[in-house]
Amino acid sequence: MSAKKLLVLPGDGIGPEVMRQVVRIMTWLDRRRNIRFEITEDLVGGASLTVHNTPIRDEVITRARESDAVLFGSVGDPKWNHIGFDKRPELAILRLRQDLGLFANLRPAKVFDALVDASTLKPDVVRGLDIMIVRESVGGIYFGAPRGIETLPDGTKRGINTEVYTTAEIERVARTAFELARKRNNTVCSVEKCNVMESGLLWKEVITALHASDYSDVTLTHMLADNCAMQLVRAPRQFDVIVTGNLFGDILSDLASMLTGSLGMLPSATLGSRNEAGHMPALYEPIHGSAPDIAGQDIANPIAQILSFAMLLRYSFNMQAEADMIETATSAVLASGLRTADIMSPGMARVGTSVMGEAIVRELDKLQG
Ligand code: IPM
Ligand code: MG
Repeated sequence: MSAKKLLVLPGDGIGPEVMRQVVRIMTWLDRRRNIRFEITEDLVGGASLTVHNTPIRDEVITRARESDAVLFGSVGDPKWNHIGFDKRPELAILRLRQDLGLFANLRPAKVFDALVDASTLKPDVVRGLDIMIVRESVGGIYFGAPRGIETLPDGTKRGINTEVYTTAEIERVARTAFELARKRNNTVCSVEKCNVMESGLLWKEVITALHASDYSDVTLTHMLADNCAMQLVRAPRQFDVIVTGNLFGDILSDLASMLTGSLGMLPSATLGSRNEAGHMPALYEPIHGSAPDIAGQDIANPIAQILSFAMLLRYSFNMQAEADMIETATSAVLASGLRTADIMSPGMARVGTSVMGEAIVRELDKLQG
């Protein structure tokens, strides 16, 4: 079997320390299941700015393109708040998404039984919750032109961003959502603001047409984004797959993640189109940011990063058994009462980043037998 090429980009803040826990799992896979990766590691975000004066070098983008998958940590550091949008740490992830054509950002929000009390919502509202948000990730207002800040004749300024979606952009992300729904509860809710935005109206029309032509076996509903935010808090279990644009997806996925108790729990996958040779560009990252306030203290929750690696095994390498093992081991560790600070509750045992990582590896050992 050919080598599995991984590019590992820990980034800023808690990125490196949570990534170290994934390395433990990679070592375990090598030792106990004879699965090896060819790993290259590089700098992105503020870490890259400091050394290379750019949030991401072209050669890192090239390496990402040549890899089977990219495992990303997080970027962002208040130290760089003063610099322009053409140089911010966040540009690293935005460029990777755009240059690799990673248009479908899959953000699951799943409640672990052991954590049902960690949610700020009532247990009865979130128990068993399992939502998949499919967020378009290379279009919309994040990338639309014109954009910028211009000076008006009277000396005041005008900030401009543009929401743009084409038929093709809507169709390809909608296909991802419908295909995923077929493997889940067969229901897609498409979210936009067609009551005030033309791009939202087109979004709804294109998805309705695609549904009729290719996916009429899937149940499709439509919802305005503001109502969706409300419904996610009121009765989140009504959703299976949600498909939406870049900005609404950014916001709604943070909201959905909190239903599960902690941002520190949630992984994501961002996928592009498979080419004729069967290669699909893909990047996996936790939803949480770089959390600079707690970086380097061994208190961050490594689970989102670990579950991102499980998604990588599942979607890029079709290693369902190993992905299942990692998810099962994580549930077992949570059930045993270990908690990092972000998901701590009375009566549980508080542990740090590396103890949590070790505990998951020990649980993998048990599963392997
Ligand atoms: C996310 C983040 C990014 C985004 C930032 C870091 C650019 O919030 O992945 O959700 O807005 O897409
Ligand atoms: Mg976000």
